Amino acid sequence: MKKKITVLPGDGIGPEVIQGALQVLDAIANKYNHEFEYTYAKIGGIAIDECDTPLPQETIDACKASDGVLLGAVGGPKWDTLPGHMRPEKGLLGIRKELDLFANLRPVTAHDSLADSSTLKREVIDGVDLMIVRELTSGLYFGEPRERREEGDDLVVVDTLAYKRSEIERIMKQGFELARVRNKKLTSVDKANVLESSRVWREVAIEVGKEYPDVELDHMLVDNAAMQLIRNPKQFDVMVTENMFGDILSDEASMLTGSLGMLPSASIGSGGPGLYEPIHGSAPDIAGQNKANPLATIASVAMMLKYSFGMAEEANAIDQAISEVLEAGFRTGDIANPGEEVLSTTEMTAKVIELIKGEVVV
Ligand code: NAD
Ligand code: IPM
Ligand code: MN
Repeated sequence: MKKKITVLPGDGIGPEVIQGALQVLDAIANKYNHEFEYTYAKIGGIAIDECDTPLPQETIDACKASDGVLLGAVGGPKWDTLPGHMRPEKGLLGIRKELDLFANLRPVTAHDSLADSSTLKREVIDGVDLMIVRELTSGLYFGEPRERREEGDDLVVVDTLAYKRSEIERIMKQGFELARVRNKKLTSVDKANVLESSRVWREVAIEVGKEYPDVELDHMLVDNAAMQLIRNPKQFDVMVTENMFGDILSDEASMLTGSLGMLPSASIGSGGPGLYEPIHGSAPDIAGQNKANPLATIASVAMMLKYSFGMAEEANAIDQAISEVLEAGFRTGDIANPGEEVLSTTEMTAKVIELIKGEVVV
């Protein structure tokens, strides 16, 4: 099968982890006789530097003309003082909106072999397998107005958390569909004790839930959810939540796996190309040093194969290779324990590829 992929390496460790992920894709293409054609485009800080905008029109056009989009990360200290509309992050928000990628799937799968890399106890995280479904194109990130204005000698700053009922309905349906093919439990996370938007969120969850009688629905306030994720994460199957809540809860949940560098994501919408990216950022503290863990991005490629290209076997081969590499004890710095040998980004990538090719990894 031939597929066109737009590649957006972005900033910081973005290009490093993307390089690894593309090598893995090449290994898959070889083994399963596919052709993946890559078109590189700019987003984020590098696009600001070279094109004066975090999201050039040609990047949008390239993404729309492809079968899937793979993104590294955007942002970094160099661009931190720019005004909001010129920040690298605005490019990422823009492409999510342009492609109408309202559903961000962030699976949290704990590998047994990484239990000692987590800051949590083994018995708490053993067997964790949950999916955070984050609403991605509305809520607090996109609501209008957003402004600063002088009021007397004071400054007023406004961000708006707004939802349309239809936006809540579509993300809820996505969550229920996923729960139906997983462990049939959906936790709708909100702040209905305070926010009007959350009260409607909860109403819609109940309404949509009627169409899915086979899925058990419960509601949890977001502050409690943050605590429950650490106390007893195995109570969760699918969690559906507002844009900002999902952003925060997913970084928190990444530590159930041992590292932020382990969590992939798929952003999907209403039929166009999906966007796949690790949930982590550009990691300025380790950028350019060949230290980043590439596994979140490699696992994001597996999600692309599964969700956008219908290549379940190929996706499995990647996930399996990741598991085996970890079982064999290979570690990048973020998941290594004191005294363990630390692999570079490129060495870790090479181990995954050896396994995909069927070579013995020792
Ligand atoms: P970050 O996710 O970049 O890094 C947080 C910590 O996790 C750092 O210590 C970093 O070294 C570590 N880390 C992250 N990914 C890793 C990996 N693959 N391997 C090993 N360690 C890893 O978050 P931050 O430091 O808060 O943000 C830095 C920049 O990234 C900011 O400009 C932010 O806006 C941006 N950001 C971008 C995205 C994205 O592009 N999707 C996501 C989050 C943050
Ligand atoms: C993420 C990031 C982004 C977000 C930023 C960089 C805009 O934190 O993908 O999780 O908040 O969505
Ligand atoms: Mn985030």
